[in-house]
Amino acid sequence: MKQTITFPNGRKVLNLGQGTWGMGEEESRRRNEVEALRTGIDNGLTLIDSAEMYAEGNAERVAGEAITPYNREELFLVSKVYPTNAGEKRMFESCENSLKRLGVNELDLYLLHWPGNIALQETIDCFEELKQQGKIRDWGVSNFDLEDMQELLSLRNGENCQTNQVLYHLASRGIEVVLYDYLRANNIPVMAYCPIIGQEPDLKEKVYESPAVNQIAKHHNISVIQLLLAFVTQYEQMIAIPKAGSKDHVIQNRQALNIELTNDEMAMLNEAFPAPEKRIPLRVQ
Ligand SMILES: NC(=O)c1ccc[n+]([C@@H]2O[C@H](COP(=O)([O-])OP(=O)(O)OC[C@H]3O[C@@H](n4cnc5c(N)ncnc54)[C@H](OP(=O)(O)O)[C@@H]3O)[C@@H](O)[C@H]2O)c1
Repeated sequence: MKQTITFPNGRKVLNLGQGTWGMGEEESRRRNEVEALRTGIDNGLTLIDSAEMYAEGNAERVAGEAITPYNREELFLVSKVYPTNAGEKRMFESCENSLKRLGVNELDLYLLHWPGNIALQETIDCFEELKQQGKIRDWGVSNFDLEDMQELLSLRNGENCQTNQVLYHLASRGIEVVLYDYLRANNIPVMAYCPIIGQEPDLKEKVYESPAVNQIAKHHNISVIQLLLAFVTQYEQMIAIPKAGSKDHVIQNRQALNIELTNDEMAMLNEAFPAPEKRIPLRVQ
């Protein structure tokens, strides 16, 4: 095991979890998806990330089926509420529906999927109420840029935020300029989504064609995807949550935690895919 991350509430998980975006869309893929998630859990990838949005709840159902053989305490379940549902009118029902689809009584983390129009204080109050009711252990946010985080942390109970889930991969390093440091300074771990550039085929191609990337991957005898995961998981207090729809992919992804990139290799990657010099707005998918 390479590294764990520690949430502000003291809970620790391996710095590699499992995404579920795209799962539950095709019945023909369901068996493989369930098998993939179970393979991940068996190999220590116990954090599963989902959302009420994904396949309109079906991704949560796939995750729910996958986790049936396991003890609830072994798992770390994350789901997300739509911003339009993140207020006192609809959030309690949204959470209840996510719990039902997952087949559990409590979420480990419930995230606001992205900043919306409902007052953030109202959302926080609902999160805190859900904690009181025992429906969620804790809560966090997603797609929050610096100013969103600053606002959050200025509000009542805002300091209870456990994570900010944001887009981060080798070819999209904007958060390194300010946001990552700000989160670190406030003890808030980052959940890096799309760590293997799942949603940006053009950028992915650029990475695949990069001589630096290929040279390093060849040297370690690993795939480019494993290199991408090794890159993200080297950062303190950052967990990568790749989505893998097959057992083989999960096993390959897990192996990426055994890879150590040297300073020279990092220098090559920094040259080929530098972080921006100045702050840019947070990218989202
Ligand atoms: N908060 C947000 O707004 C937000 C936005 C986007 C994503 N997310 C979360 O982050 C997770 C990850 O992001 P993502 O799913 O968009 O992108 P990703 O994890 O970067 O990439 C997923 C793609 O990579 C493929 N893949 C996985 N392992 C592989 C391997 N070893 N070899 C070859 N291909 C492999 C998958 O194909 P197979 O299915 O065939 O394995 C899938 O097409 C999501 O599932 C979701 O949980 C959150």
